[in-house]
Amino acid sequence: MTRLLQLSDPHIVPEGQLAYGVVDTAAALADAVDTINRDLHLYGPVDLAIVTGDLTDFGSPEEYARFRNIMDGLPIPYRVIPGNHDLRENLRQAFSEDGWMPDSGPIVWSVDLPDFGVVALDTLVEGQHHGLLDDRAVRFLVDALEAFNGKPVLVATHHPPFATGIIPMDVNNLRNGSLLRDILDAYAGETRLICGHVHRSVTTVYGSSVAMIAPGVSHSVTLDQREENPHTLSLEPGGFMLHEWRNGLVSHTVAARFPADRHPFSSPEEKPEGASRA
Ligand SMILES: [Fe+2]
Ligand SMILES: [Fe+2]
Repeated sequence: MTRLLQLSDPHIVPEGQLAYGVVDTAAALADAVDTINRDLHLYGPVDLAIVTGDLTDFGSPEEYARFRNIMDGLPIPYRVIPGNHDLRENLRQAFSEDGWMPDSGPIVWSVDLPDFGVVALDTLVEGQHHGLLDDRAVRFLVDALEAFNGKPVLVATHHPPFATGIIPMDVNNLRNGSLLRDILDAYAGETRLICGHVHRSVTTVYGSSVAMIAPGVSHSVTLDQREENPHTLSLEPGGFMLHEWRNGLVSHTVAARFPADRHPFSSPEEKPEGASRA
């Protein structure tokens, strides 16, 4: 069985700092790595992990080094794409020795896993918060889909191409998402679009595909759909996703941190008279 872990939006800041003055994002990423290490034997093996952007908060070399240091504890090979908080060339520099990233242009890559392909796309417009697929990324997607030739494909972007109702995020989503939808609609096989950026779990039908936003491993963008949205973050539990092939793509959301205790559903307590239990 083929499995892909998705972590998103760790927003690592320099040592000794809290993101936005309140979030220990490095601790949150370390929690996710620890949870994966602890529980992987329950659902693994996993072929690959992907981090769908906003690896760092400011894109500095120091932040990328800190990110890599924490991710070195992950027992799975991983790859990344940039988000709007990343700086493309600093990110490229941090991963240049790994050999899976193009030397120039958008940071795009694809992997042919046993049951599905993965196509990862760079939507970063440096200096802007919205996303855009440039011509080279579009061409890469079209060529990769042609090579996958009807095999199921999971496409990853940082910016989602659909609205969530959270206005400050929706104005900065993927601007040319309809082009992406048209390309996926024309593909002969099953597709799934996996995104980040909104730091919360959101799912929608997207043309012939299903599009999903993964929770952030750390903080969330507040679910606030009022017109005068002050754009805040919430310290909701972080999480990550497991995408797997079960005669179709199946996606699980897992909390980044929770107690290791397991409690059997069967209980020595007497069942109340007339009660049933799930
Ligand atoms: Fe983010
Ligand atoms: Fe983002």
